[in-house]
Amino acid sequence: MKLSKTTKLVIVFLSLFVILVVAYYTLEIVARNYVSSSYDETVSLTGARLSDEFYSSVSRAATWKSVSGYSSQFDFEIYNTGKSNLSNWVVKIELPSDATLENYWGAEAVFDAERECVVLRPTYYNNVIYSGENIAFGIIVNSKEVFTPTEIGIKGYKISSELTDIGKKVIMILLMVCFIVFVGLLVTRVNVRNYKERQRNDVKIILQSMNTFINFIDAKDPYTRGHSRRVAMYAAEIAKRMGLSEDEIQNIYYAGLLHDAGKISVPDAVLNKPGKLTDEERKLIQNHTVAGGKMLLQLSSLRGVRETALYHHERYDGTGYPDGLKGDIIPLYARIVGVADSYDAMSSNRVYRRHLNKDEIIEEIQKGSGTQFDPSIVKYMVDMINDGYVNVVKMETAEADENHERFHLTEDDIPGVYMGFQQ
Ligand SMILES: [Fe+2]
Repeated sequence: MKLSKTTKLVIVFLSLFVILVVAYYTLEIVARNYVSSSYDETVSLTGARLSDEFYSSVSRAATWKSVSGYSSQFDFEIYNTGKSNLSNWVVKIELPSDATLENYWGAEAVFDAERECVVLRPTYYNNVIYSGENIAFGIIVNSKEVFTPTEIGIKGYKISSELTDIGKKVIMILLMVCFIVFVGLLVTRVNVRNYKERQRNDVKIILQSMNTFINFIDAKDPYTRGHSRRVAMYAAEIAKRMGLSEDEIQNIYYAGLLHDAGKISVPDAVLNKPGKLTDEERKLIQNHTVAGGKMLLQLSSLRGVRETALYHHERYDGTGYPDGLKGDIIPLYARIVGVADSYDAMSSNRVYRRHLNKDEIIEEIQKGSGTQFDPSIVKYMVDMINDGYVNVVKMETAEADENHERFHLTEDDIPGVYMGFQQ
């Protein structure tokens, strides 16, 4: 089962959240059971404070005479002012030897074995007094004499809350960071998806418009049917092999599609003339570059498209047309499309000749390296012929079949060339 990137993102962050929450509660449990030291102190109930960490107050709520002596009710309160929590703790209160316990609350109370004291095990908060908290409990004692407790003993284990607090804070910060990053990534992903969707539509509209326009050129010049689409494909592949960016590859593809746009201005009779051309006719055909440049003047948003139409017949040695530009002065797209254009011309049948074979084409292209073509681009075109990316024999078969659509290229023919179509 293939998961989408968004699903993977949700799974990764959900797992992170679960891990952090488990860590939080594990830390809590570990810290509660982590005993840093034991505690055994006696706290005065007469005003003098014996412990730095705990103090207690007691109030006599009532005393009344009964048949067996005097019953007294005492309410206790213990305050934890230290930095540690006290766990598994008990309170001991010494009682007269004849005393009996009539009632108690807030704690379970039992006499110790020798009846020297009553041991109270408070039932609050899982038997923990947290740092900064206080608890209350009480007893009713009966004795022959009226008595007043003067001290209580507090015994238990100290557990460090500092470790837990720092750990919890770190986990809470991590949880918050995770949440913010998660929401941020999710929003970015949704935006990117919407952007890609729009971009895909844009590319589709551009390609459909261009294809419509190219059909007009093809209709004028049936012998070069599919030429613009093939040149666009070859030029894009060269650009890809040269390591250009996806943006550039995309633009070079557009430039390849429209490089012969100016042919629409050349009279049909001249364009399809089987015999030798007069100087006047040759000039008319050569003028398709200038005408194309003018037609595409408004298409400035597609970078390099106009320059390619204008300069794709310039030669590397400066003897081309229309301006006789030389070397790297010729725009890169035009140099790339120039090589792709020549390859397609040599590998297609023309009104005046059949196509050349693979070896002849390679020889011709290499002969033109440095004179007609940029040598750094020739290398890639020759590689494409040698590794079978372009195939003269296949193309010949396709062209022989009138209804064959193999070389009627659409945007689906070059997967990966269009950045708008990549995930
Ligand atoms: Fe051309």
